[in-house]
Amino acid sequence: MSERLGTASNIWITGASSGIGEAVTRALVDQGHRLVITGRRQDALDGLSALAPERVVAAQADTTSRDDLLGISSALEAHGDLNMAILNAGTCEYLEIADYDSTVIENNINTNVVGTARCLDIALPALRRTVAKGQPATLVIVSSSAWWFPFGRAEGYGASKAALTYFAHALRADLAPEGIDVVVVSPGFVKTPLTDRNDFPMPFLVSAEDAASRIVTGLLKGRNEIAFPKRFTWTLKALSALPQGLIDRMAASMSRKSRNEQETNG
Ligand SMILES: NC(=O)c1ccc[n+]([C@@H]2O[C@H](COP(=O)([O-])OP(=O)(O)OC[C@H]3O[C@@H](n4cnc5c(N)ncnc54)[C@H](OP(=O)(O)O)[C@@H]3O)[C@@H](O)[C@H]2O)c1
Repeated sequence: MSERLGTASNIWITGASSGIGEAVTRALVDQGHRLVITGRRQDALDGLSALAPERVVAAQADTTSRDDLLGISSALEAHGDLNMAILNAGTCEYLEIADYDSTVIENNINTNVVGTARCLDIALPALRRTVAKGQPATLVIVSSSAWWFPFGRAEGYGASKAALTYFAHALRADLAPEGIDVVVVSPGFVKTPLTDRNDFPMPFLVSAEDAASRIVTGLLKGRNEIAFPKRFTWTLKALSALPQGLIDRMAASMSRKSRNEQETNG
């Protein structure tokens, strides 16, 4: 076991109000950690903090809002030395190419990239203070494996997660000398309210509980790259190694098929 999560730790998790964030919260609470959980829906967060009110603080914050984030920095401070920030809040909006609208791209980038980057305004100083006291500090960024292949309609989501992963990897390089680990989580399809909206087949779909267990196990093992399920991520990696012309033909054929299915289903 690595030093990470080896003892009861202080953790901030964004997007805890549903899906992967909620399941990771439940798993970490079960393991005795102390959490600050944030999201925009206070009711959902309150329900979760009731699991262990003495160890779980719920605070409302939109990660795209600097003011909201500044508003929760005191709650983070009061919770004790921050050992881990899990930046999980995210959205997925698909583009309808016949009705192209750049707002879709903007919304994905704003929540997934800018929102995550803003969280660092308060997380990074807190993690640095923890390291200065000789304790481990880890930044976890929940990205996606979706951008490893050019899926139709995912122009905005894929671009945002590609940018987010680059951001995380470059941060890893810059923060290594300070002893702050940066972990990138790249899930395949996970059953959550976000994917419940999808109208296409989702191969190797896993439950949110399964995803949470893989994330927490990966963190405990000291991994800096956590990608799952392997059957999905290995397939995507293999596809992404093909010549671009072949990738383009496969992607175009998948996009055409999915559009035809949409038209057939009305
Ligand atoms: N499900 C999948 O298949 C899958 C695959 C790969 C990666 N991911 C990533 O996993 C993360 C969690 O997604 P999920 O599937 O668990 O979806 P979800 O159930 O919709 O959860 C998204 C969470 O993000 C929060 N959120 C969204 N926008 C926010 C904002 N502006 N400010 C603060 N919180 C915000 C939501 O809380 P509020 O609505 O309360 O704000 C919610 O708690 C996302 O980053 C997603 O891209 C998911």
